[in-house]
Amino acid sequence: MKTSIFGIGYVGAVTAACLAKDGHHVIAVDTDPVKVMCLAKGRSPIVEKDLGDYLAEGVKAGRIKATLSAAEAIENSDMSLICVGTPSRADGSLDLSYVEAVCREIGTLLKSKSAYHTIVLRSTMVPGSAHGVCKPALEKSSGKKAGEGFGFGNNPEFLRESSAIFDYYHPPKIVVGADDDKTASLIMSIYDGIDAPRVTTEIAIAEGVKYADNAWHAMKVGFANEMGNILKAHGVDSHQVMDIFCLDTKLNISKAYLKPGFAFGGSCLPKDVRAIRAAANSKNIKTPIFDALLEANELQVNRAVSMIDKIGSKKIALLGLSFKAGTDDLRESPLVTLANHLLNKGYDLKIYDPNIWHAREQEGANQKYIKEKLSHISSCLVEKSDDMKGSDVFVIGNPTKDFATIVMTLTNDNTPVIDLVRLNPDLEKRAGYDGICW
Ligand SMILES: NC(=O)c1ccc[n+]([C@@H]2O[C@H](COP(=O)([O-])OP(=O)(O)OC[C@H]3O[C@@H](n4cnc5c(N)ncnc54)[C@H](O)[C@@H]3O)[C@@H](O)[C@H]2O)c1
Repeated sequence: MKTSIFGIGYVGAVTAACLAKDGHHVIAVDTDPVKVMCLAKGRSPIVEKDLGDYLAEGVKAGRIKATLSAAEAIENSDMSLICVGTPSRADGSLDLSYVEAVCREIGTLLKSKSAYHTIVLRSTMVPGSAHGVCKPALEKSSGKKAGEGFGFGNNPEFLRESSAIFDYYHPPKIVVGADDDKTASLIMSIYDGIDAPRVTTEIAIAEGVKYADNAWHAMKVGFANEMGNILKAHGVDSHQVMDIFCLDTKLNISKAYLKPGFAFGGSCLPKDVRAIRAAANSKNIKTPIFDALLEANELQVNRAVSMIDKIGSKKIALLGLSFKAGTDDLRESPLVTLANHLLNKGYDLKIYDPNIWHAREQEGANQKYIKEKLSHISSCLVEKSDDMKGSDVFVIGNPTKDFATIVMTLTNDNTPVIDLVRLNPDLEKRAGYDGICW
């Protein structure tokens, strides 16, 4: 394919080199004459393993050209990959002025180009930027509509500097966002021959993936360092601990605990986060990440309360009280905290949780706990799901299998349902449905 690349920085130069290596023809554009001159001579504008060799080979084979002229690039390519910078502004927000300027420039050139051209955003941008900033800039300046007059999509880049070429050919995944299938498959086709999971999705989801990735990587570094600081202060080899930690691909390095939903609770996580913080404090080690965990957890409960408040009805049915499905353990259940908030605010609350109902009725560890510590909540418990009939709002608190059917039986399409666990796709189609963070 004939491609043009706007922005010959780390991402643009590597993309240009690899596309040319794979047999595509590339015209690289930059506003910086030094970078253009470098590339035109087959030299790398940056320090990056193997990049110089790839560029030299591409230029020698006549597959890489470099220019300051956007017009030349658009005229001689079918697809443009935008790889310009998206730096931080002083307030931390993203400066999209470079991307917007390139989109305007390309759009103006597309006005007089009759052949179909596809624009692909490779720059990292927060969700909503492509549709909120880039598409309008392209449509306004070209007078054409995305998907009709030109192709429009995005393809976030996952390379790491210093191993960028290796990463290009061994990506963790290839993600393409597009509004139409034709554009999606065209963008995907530039990766023919690369073995990686491929995902075609909505543009805003592809934008979101990049931020989930980078925030997660930053979180991992911060977590490992904070853990390391505490372990060192206690005379423990943090690398040995983390090596063993990483062996666990069921709960640690895995999908577990990574679905957005409600707060954590139970007898272990809150207690142990508090304990490791206390152990750190005893050695004067600061734990901003672990501190934030507890605060973030509290905020998630408050978020559920605000969602209920916003509806403005008084009769609330809460399905689930134990901290997760399939247990009667109420210790530090965030649903108990939620119930307490609602009762303190004067809501008329009914709680359905068969495990807790039975625990209350039967001799066992939880009977005493419920009677002594949760007597105020205990009186809200109902035995049968039908006892919740007539409630104004239904809150699904844990993923007990029957809860979706119960809610669908007791409510109509418009009844407000607040889902804290994303239980069932059929429920999501209803007008009254709202998920806590989806
Ligand atoms: N560097 C990385 O490791 C990496 C990895 C993945 C994603 N990203 C993202 O990719 C984007 C580019 O990052 P980078 O590190 O390659 O940036 P960079 O600053 O190295 O390069 C950007 C280039 O764009 C050029 N440019 C600016 N305006 C232009 C215009 N109107 N026309 C043509 N060229 C123009 C600049 O002169 C510069 O050479 C950013 O959004 C970044 O967040 C970077």
